[in-house]
Amino acid sequence: MIEIINLHKSLDGVEVLRGVNLDIPGAKTTAIIGSSGTGKSVLLKHIIGLLKPDSGTIIVDGVDTSELNGREWNELRKDKFGMLFQEGALFDSMNVFENVAFFLEQHTKLSKEEIAHKVGEKLELVGLPNVEHKMPSELSGGMKRRVALARAIIASPHIVLFDEPTVGLDPIICASIIDLIKQTQEQLGITFVMVTHNILAGFSIAQKIAMLHEGRIIESGTAEEMRNCENPIVQNFIKNIEFG
Ligand SMILES: Nc1ncnc2c1ncn2[C@@H]1O[C@H](COP(=O)(O)OP(=O)(O)OP(=O)(O)O)[C@@H](O)[C@H]1O
Ligand SMILES: [Mg+2]
Repeated sequence: MIEIINLHKSLDGVEVLRGVNLDIPGAKTTAIIGSSGTGKSVLLKHIIGLLKPDSGTIIVDGVDTSELNGREWNELRKDKFGMLFQEGALFDSMNVFENVAFFLEQHTKLSKEEIAHKVGEKLELVGLPNVEHKMPSELSGGMKRRVALARAIIASPHIVLFDEPTVGLDPIICASIIDLIKQTQEQLGITFVMVTHNILAGFSIAQKIAMLHEGRIIESGTAEEMRNCENPIVQNFIKNIEFG
């Protein structure tokens, strides 16, 4: 579904991505793991076209994105992607309904009734019926993430990107959000890409896990393969998180 080929990117004179190669399979969840500051969010921003590579390309569903101009990228983004940003940022001045409906109101000509129906359906899917009129400030951290997920999937995207979907949540809420992401992927059957340094989250829901380290993907595979791989950097990372 997404093919990242030899992606290089420097920011402020620092080479953050140094030749990233990664295949992201369709209709599955892929987790990108790695320590803080290694460039996971930067990589995600390239996948969704918010940053442009210095060199290398990203192929999204057969489209070579290095050939797209700004307008074409906007179309591709609207057509294919949903995104849940780090901390799941909601628009604070809008209630839950308005947050989830935002994309449909901006970019489609659906009637008020159709929008209301879709918003209701997605809120139900994320386990939050009857909260349409609440403001973000009235929601718990876990509820905000659920609303952000409903917003990310409102336009039936083919690909949803998650940047640290569980960061800052207590372990129990964290587990429930991980379950929700897993269930949602299974129900929708679409491609999820999740960036996380929460290895437990990655390992429990992703069919493919890739570790970013010093600007490159150093290993990728199933949870089982990652646990058994002999790369000391991967092993250290896993141990530090599980026992650290
Ligand atoms: N817009 C930017 N301008 C300059 N430098 C940036 C920019 N965005 C990120 N960086 C730098 O790129 C590096 C990678 O940042 P990134 O946010 O991708 O890390 P990360 O792996 O997502 O970390 P975390 O797990 O803490 O979210 C960091 O050194 C950061 O300072
Ligand atoms: Mg990040």
